[in-house]
Amino acid sequence: MKRVIAKAPLSTAPSEFVDPSFSAAVIGWQKQHGRHALPWQNTRDAYRIWLSEIMLQQTQVTAVIPYYQRFLDSFPDVGSLAAAPSEAVMAHWSGLGYYTRARNLHRCAQRVSAEYGGRFPSDPELLADLPGIGRSTAAAISAFAYGTRAAILDGNVKRVFARVFGVDGYPGAKAVEDQLWRRAVALLPQTDMESYTQGLMDLGATLCVRGKPACEKCPLAQRCVALATDRVAVLPVRKPKKAVPERETVMLVINDGADVLLEQRPDSGIWGGLLSLPELPLMPNAAEFDRSVRGLVAPFGEISACRKLTPFSHVFTHFKLHVSPYQVALESRLLHAAQHQYVWYPVSRLADAPLPAPVKKLLLAVLQTEDLLSEAAAL
Ligand code: ADE
Repeated sequence: MKRVIAKAPLSTAPSEFVDPSFSAAVIGWQKQHGRHALPWQNTRDAYRIWLSEIMLQQTQVTAVIPYYQRFLDSFPDVGSLAAAPSEAVMAHWSGLGYYTRARNLHRCAQRVSAEYGGRFPSDPELLADLPGIGRSTAAAISAFAYGTRAAILDGNVKRVFARVFGVDGYPGAKAVEDQLWRRAVALLPQTDMESYTQGLMDLGATLCVRGKPACEKCPLAQRCVALATDRVAVLPVRKPKKAVPERETVMLVINDGADVLLEQRPDSGIWGGLLSLPELPLMPNAAEFDRSVRGLVAPFGEISACRKLTPFSHVFTHFKLHVSPYQVALESRLLHAAQHQYVWYPVSRLADAPLPAPVKKLLLAVLQTEDLLSEAAAL
């Protein structure tokens, strides 16, 4: 369906990105190889198009189709949806997930009924003011229902653009996303908005997929910067991982003959409720460290030797723990464990003890080695 449509304002279409051959390639490919028989295609009914676009925001086409059909059977137009009880709307959405979409859908239907006499506006800016409709969804609805010249930029289209234009940087970052929007606007064709919009969606969903893109079939392959520079697998750039916070601790392996001193950890926090080694904060000052080791060990006996063991790190979901372990040998052991969270534990039973895995590994490696303290330096 050919239509002559209004030009986008020049201010939003910087000349550096304009290239009519881009949309020509997408439109030509869509007409020949794109999807043409999806249930929400071949209609100008803005209600049906809007419903499909909302359902497709976070859900795959195959999952949407049965929901879309059941929804239309029960709510054939915006008036019937607006008038329905919210429980009925939620029941029809049940299983599709992201239920905010269903609540916004109902509110949107009520606003379109009340404010627009049941007819969805064609202006993407007015559409984007309605609940649940963002800039890209507004453009898609307007292009499909009214042929409006408006740019879409969903996740799939971001991937196509990032690869074709070799856009480095995470597309969710404001500056990168702004650049992609400028490109999306500049590349809009003068006609055939429906085929162009559907073509971008089809390319992103069927050829330019994240995992194994079918570049050999792509109408944009000759101009694809990612393909030419062997960066298809790394573009678009993935969301940068947040720096993992790091913590440091000292663990003391205080052993006396056949036993090792363990401490019961509090029920909450890391390794909650398990037994572990007594810990001290890491101190840069050697004399201070020496004092605090002696302070911790004093209730349990006299220190005969202390040696540094190999440090290790353990990664938790939210932080990384660097452990500096020390082994402490006792000259004479006082018989009681002075504080009740401590326990003298038989080395022979360590393999079955309720210990964190890295602590058990350390203890088994250290205490099942003979003559450990023979070379130990005196404290
Ligand atoms: N995803 C979002 N909108 C779509 C549409 N109209 N057709 C297919 N997949 C889509």
